[in-house]
Amino acid sequence: MSINGGRECDRINVAIDGPAGAGKSTVARKVAEQLGYVYIDTGAMYRAVTLAANRAGIHPGETDGLKQLVNSLSIRLAPGENGQMVFLNEEDVTSAIRSREVTLHVSQVASHESVRIRLVELQRQLAASRGIVMDGRDIGTHVLPDAELKVFLTASVQIRAKRRYEELKDLEGISLEQLEAEIAKRDLSDEQREISPLVCAQDAIKVDSTELTIDQVVALILDLSRTKLAEAK
Ligand code: DC
Repeated sequence: MSINGGRECDRINVAIDGPAGAGKSTVARKVAEQLGYVYIDTGAMYRAVTLAANRAGIHPGETDGLKQLVNSLSIRLAPGENGQMVFLNEEDVTSAIRSREVTLHVSQVASHESVRIRLVELQRQLAASRGIVMDGRDIGTHVLPDAELKVFLTASVQIRAKRRYEELKDLEGISLEQLEAEIAKRDLSDEQREISPLVCAQDAIKVDSTELTIDQVVALILDLSRTKLAEAK
């Protein structure tokens, strides 16, 4: 079934991977808007599982508990006025998945094989009819190895922490230095996990956004998308 109409060969899939705070979600959402594609934030899916685990009192290290949980959950993404909305068992958890508690546990939850198998299956279903911009950590390397365009978006840890600091409305007393340390820790955990670690795909285009504005990165990816679209026809 086609999600967004049109012939499949008129559309490509765009994979945007990179570390936390590199601007992936803002950039991916804007690129999708411009192309008339569907944006899928896969980090939000790992966050939804983490929220469900926190609520159920399942520790992020509990392999069996997480396996049972992830296979019993319904996670649905839908476009909303302010970006992608996330529903966990049909409850709107769009804001709840951004809490600090979820952020602190999500990387460990995302390291479990059962969690990744289930979410990757959902992600591939969503991308089957093409016309998708998907962001995450393993999209180009594992989820959509055939994506026509793969971008690996990075930025220095200092600038990523600074952007998060300015973005967070409720800082709960957290300092910039603390945020920087947390981001560096999450990078390491995402890069060093055994299953689908965060690495740049061989055929990905690396974009360093440290010195670029969001609009410059968007324009660059749109240019690349149009070239790939022309090649795909
Ligand atoms: O992009 P984010 O910060 O919302 O992602 C939350 C966590 O989920 C992050 O620590 C890594 C993990 N994640 C992942 O392992 N694979 C993905 N495709 C997306 C996110």
